[in-house]
Amino acid sequence: MLKKILKWTGIVLAVLILIVVAFYAVAYSSVNSRANKVYAVKLQQLTIPDDSVSYAMGQHTVAIRGCLECHGSNLGGKVFMSDSTPIAMLYSANLTNGKGGINYTDSDWVRALRHGLNKENKSVWFMPAQHTTAQLSNKELASLICFLKKQPPVDNITPKHELKPLGTVLTYLDKFPLFPAEVIDHNASYTDEVKVEVSAAYGKYLAISCAGCHGEQFKGGAAGDPNSPPVPDLTSTGNLGKWTSEQFVATIRTGTTPNGKLLSDYMPWKVFGKVSTDDELKAIYMYLHTHN
Ligand code: HEC
Ligand code: HEC
Repeated sequence: MLKKILKWTGIVLAVLILIVVAFYAVAYSSVNSRANKVYAVKLQQLTIPDDSVSYAMGQHTVAIRGCLECHGSNLGGKVFMSDSTPIAMLYSANLTNGKGGINYTDSDWVRALRHGLNKENKSVWFMPAQHTTAQLSNKELASLICFLKKQPPVDNITPKHELKPLGTVLTYLDKFPLFPAEVIDHNASYTDEVKVEVSAAYGKYLAISCAGCHGEQFKGGAAGDPNSPPVPDLTSTGNLGKWTSEQFVATIRTGTTPNGKLLSDYMPWKVFGKVSTDDELKAIYMYLHTHN
């Protein structure tokens, strides 16, 4: 009798292990082929300016689009997920021409920033091109590249990205947005210039930076990071719908909402509050406040 039970337990266990192994094999091969997909995109010909006004515009873009948060204040790249995390080993790239730097030509910049593709025409990993640079106007993108090209070289050699088994499974289950090139419209056309003004249209253009966490429709929800508080709804149906423009600006500047709640650092208010102009925040408010 005992022997029979042991035999059946063994069979059930063996079947379970087989199922897990088969699932992992499918996940691995699917994610691996997505990682190695070579994209054929037609690169936009963009003339990169070299004047101080463009440089200053690019410098501001780098600040408000969060490049410094992820790539470091000298843009030399830093650890994004260390080797000790079970998901992946990921370093943001060294964007300078120092040792370990990306050494980009103008077209390489366009390929990475418009399409989320590296020099091999494969998707970059996790780099949120779709929420930072893909839709920038031609003028702003060109200014951004002007600024990036002029950064002093930083020597920082970082290891190549590597996905761990848990990261593979999460990517397979669409729980970890690893491949930005998959969600970018590679045939999009771009406006030459977006008018800088306090308007909902300009606010919409700026608010793309908020979509990575608050959702494409800004409706919030569970956060990607399990330690983060839930991400609030930023539209007229959320708290923001009851705030005035001044209250919204004060919330982003001080990190304290009109209801007296101090926002955690999972909301990068210290960054946005420091680098955004009043007009930019008012424009974002105009867009979100009327969005539902
Ligand atoms: C949320 C973090 C994050 C933000 C914000 C971010 N990056 Fe990145 N970036 C990364 C990571 C991580 C990588 C490494 C990607 C890889 O290993 O495939 C990367 C890679 C890159 C690359 C190199 C692609 C390659 O492998 O050839 C460029 C260029 C780049 N980022 C530019 C920028 C610029 C410009 C900005 C601001 C507009 C920016 N990034 C904002 C995380 C970020
Ligand atoms: C990296 C993720 C991330 C990004 C990017 C981000 N947020 Fe947030 N935001 C959060 C999280 C998480 C919270 C909740 C924080 C808490 O409860 O402590 C939050 C809270 C807020 C709140 C408070 C809302 C309320 O009802 O209490 C406002 C306002 C806000 N964000 C505006 C913005 C705007 C505007 C942008 C873009 C310029 C933005 N956020 C970009 C993660 C993000």
